[in-house]
Amino acid sequence: DVIDVKDVLSNGYFTYDPGFMATSACESKITFIDGDKGILLHGGYPIEQLAEKSDYLETCYLLLNGELPNAAQKEDFVSRVMNHTMVHEQLQFFYRGFRRDAHPMAVMCGVVGALSAFYHDNLDINDPEHRRIAAIRLIAKMPTMAAMSYKYSAGQPFMYPRNDLGYAENFLHMMFATPCADYKVNPIVARAMDRIFVLHADHEQNASTSTVRLTGSTGANPYACIAAGIAALWGPSHGGANEAVLKMLDEIGDVSKLDDFIKRVKDKNDSTKLMGFGHRVYKNFDPRAKVMKQTCDEVLTALGIHDPQLELAMKLEEIALNDEYFVSRKLYPNVDFYSGIILKAIGIPTSMFTVIFALGRTPGWIAHWLEMHSAPYKISRPRQLYTGPVQRDFVPMDKR
Ligand code: ACO
Repeated sequence: DVIDVKDVLSNGYFTYDPGFMATSACESKITFIDGDKGILLHGGYPIEQLAEKSDYLETCYLLLNGELPNAAQKEDFVSRVMNHTMVHEQLQFFYRGFRRDAHPMAVMCGVVGALSAFYHDNLDINDPEHRRIAAIRLIAKMPTMAAMSYKYSAGQPFMYPRNDLGYAENFLHMMFATPCADYKVNPIVARAMDRIFVLHADHEQNASTSTVRLTGSTGANPYACIAAGIAALWGPSHGGANEAVLKMLDEIGDVSKLDDFIKRVKDKNDSTKLMGFGHRVYKNFDPRAKVMKQTCDEVLTALGIHDPQLELAMKLEEIALNDEYFVSRKLYPNVDFYSGIILKAIGIPTSMFTVIFALGRTPGWIAHWLEMHSAPYKISRPRQLYTGPVQRDFVPMDKR
């Protein structure tokens, strides 16, 4: 049942809902989640089917347009995206201003926000065509900017995009090729990368998407809105969890330490969490985690990698799924539990994991920004319950 805010206000009430546990901030046609049944649909299509039968750019089109493209529409969309993969040469100086050891997410917050300096004065957010171009630009430039943040940290030259490659292949090329050596993209790795992007593409009003909508509700520049989304994603409770999972597995070390670790997680006086587990909405298996686990198996088998961390993760999952603490709280693996192991197998450094999430989530952020701007909307302005002092007179310095 939905209570309309107008009824709440007309009765002289307003709601107190820290964490937005029971508050819809908008209507949306983009993504549906049934957290109890573990269902995720984009435009009505189950995520499992999109991950298996579609690809990332087609999923982007679906999120932006509400329908899957026909062959001509897809070709046009892909070619428009690939036409915008380059970034302004001037942008490299923004990278060069950062310390080499800056976290790539810190760099991404800065450089994506900096795009607003390149596309601001002649951008009219009230014009649907201007909004669409901003959407295409962002989807096109994110892999280039993400790869540049890695190259900068590795002290290697930036690689230009190659528009003859697929979206995921091009990203891997910009990450791993150098001017002295080509990088032959393994098709299984490219497919896995593309699937990781599909699995992250949208997830309705999560913290980062809500941040993009909230920022956008002031009429702010779209690139600045996406930079705000990137900042919100970075935290370990959200997108930063994929990096945190690998750190957690590293810290645990081996299977013999699992029982001690689980004891710490269950201890109320210890803040340790089982990273990659739990979700605000899913009180059942995250459907993305199932596909991610399957993709993980495929990649490790194809690359002939035997990863003790995967074994550790599987044992941890088995223990948690049979432990009263996790069962009673309906804590299941989320999308981040297995993605890190695949990314590690592909050769992506841990510090880039959340950047990959940001790249994948960009169409979701921008689809919500477009949806908000395509109809009348209000500025997002939550209220508060004031708990500070009542009104009092100013106290001069000599009386304090
Ligand atoms: N490990 C151990 N206990 C947990 C975990 C976890 N990962 N997640 C929740 N709990 C416990 C809480 O301590 C709480 O226990 P209590 O009832 O005894 O106090 C109970 O489960 C309910 O948890 P909340 O914190 O109220 O759940 P909330 O919906 O606010 O948080 C969140 C969801 C932030 C995702 C949380 O589960 C978490 O921190 N998980 C680990 C980080 C993570 O994997 N984040 C990625 C989320 S998915 C994504 O963003 C892509």
